[in-house]
Amino acid sequence: MKLGIALLVLSCTGLTAANEVNFSRDVAPILYKRCVSCHHANDIAPMSLVTYEDARPWARAIREAVLTGQMPPWHADPHYGQFSNDRRLTQTEIETIKAWVDGGTRQGDPKDVPPAPQFPDGWKIGNPDVVIPIPKSYVVKANSPDAYLYFTVPTNFKEDTWVTAVELRPENRRVVHHAHVFLQEPPKPKAANDAKVDKEEKDNFTIEDGQVHHINPVMPVLDDGCSSVDGGNWPGRHPSESHTMLGSYLPGKDPDIFPEGYARLIPAGSSLGFQIHYNSRSIKADETDRTSVALVFAKEPPRQRLRRVDISNYLFRIPAGDPNHEVTACYVFPKDAELMSYTAHMHLRGKDMKFEAVHTDGRRETLFSVPKYDFNWQTEYQLNQPVAIEKGTKIIITAHFDNSPNNKYNPDPSKTIRWGEPSTEEMMDGWFEYILPATAAGKPAQAERQ
Ligand code: HEC
Repeated sequence: MKLGIALLVLSCTGLTAANEVNFSRDVAPILYKRCVSCHHANDIAPMSLVTYEDARPWARAIREAVLTGQMPPWHADPHYGQFSNDRRLTQTEIETIKAWVDGGTRQGDPKDVPPAPQFPDGWKIGNPDVVIPIPKSYVVKANSPDAYLYFTVPTNFKEDTWVTAVELRPENRRVVHHAHVFLQEPPKPKAANDAKVDKEEKDNFTIEDGQVHHINPVMPVLDDGCSSVDGGNWPGRHPSESHTMLGSYLPGKDPDIFPEGYARLIPAGSSLGFQIHYNSRSIKADETDRTSVALVFAKEPPRQRLRRVDISNYLFRIPAGDPNHEVTACYVFPKDAELMSYTAHMHLRGKDMKFEAVHTDGRRETLFSVPKYDFNWQTEYQLNQPVAIEKGTKIIITAHFDNSPNNKYNPDPSKTIRWGEPSTEEMMDGWFEYILPATAAGKPAQAERQ
């Protein structure tokens, strides 16, 4: 309302009105809505923007960041998909900030500042039912190389447990670059195929220092993952839920709070596998971290089980110096599904990624596109409305990599790059969260555990 009045004044009286825009009445509400979730003390952004005193010294940088679209971070092409977590500013909000800075960053009447959002030191998902930490504090030595650590922790859940929210949180953000927690289901009786799959897994990857995986260099090269008979997923690496990701701590990613009626299943006896990327860049002395994951349990059986499928190419090879190397991966949905979110994942050479659907009637549609990928921002783009996908729809993921010296993030343009977990190697992974469509809804979720 107040903003509306300010703009009315702006449009009636022209230039001089720019001076009227002030922090307390006009700018603070925008910052509170769009910026301070990250820009408050002890969160991922480098400075707080909560008070006038906080924001004033950053005025020029704020103007620049919002005019160029650098802030708030958002990398999806607005032509495709509508997202409930869209962080972008409206044109009016951008113009208000610009007018505030150009008009001399007036404070206005401090009484006009709306109540600032509160960020209690606790969990963003509310009161967790259980918090599971890694087994003990890990010491990150100053000046040590990046390390990927893996920890497995039993849940000791005696029953199947549905969770409605997951938050993975480092104890020490200075040393944790990112972290994932995976669900490791208790071993099932071995199917005939499992031993074969295990062996393929061992043959296809090499392991360094007992932890970081790379593609085995003897594996064939296949940049066009869609050209192979099984849609680019070689045996043993079919997209599956066996490596289910439960939650992530990534720059720019909010904790997972599933929409009402949805939940993720943790089968009885499961363990949690943590993968934590530690780096020592911002520390001068040794520091410790004990990352943990917090879970909120469903209060009633969920209507829908939230699933995830990763569509990846593990067989690409990016030539040294190549500024625009294309890699694709494909997947054919084996049943009807409703898509809930999209995530694009590559490392430092990732340039862009597009998700397309080829419908059963042959229609090819772009679902999602990240035209300028930025490794520093791993946003999960949550759809406003589920997108219905018919059984037999083919998904094509197309990525480009910049392995040239012009890519300022490129750790080494003289190196040929294949699949590997360290951020100095590459990944090509597009993933969907999805549910089974309405016909299955209403049915008790337990009935569709598989
Ligand atoms: C999702 C979290 C997030 C949101 C939302 C966000 N920022 Fe940021 N911002 C960051 C992080 C992290 C950095 C530091 C890394 C970087 O520059 O990318 C940053 C950097 C900045 C910088 C640059 C600081 C410098 O060193 O020059 C400015 C200015 C800024 N943000 C302003 C804003 C404004 C204004 C908004 C809201 C309109 C906003 N940000 C929303 C996380 C966020």
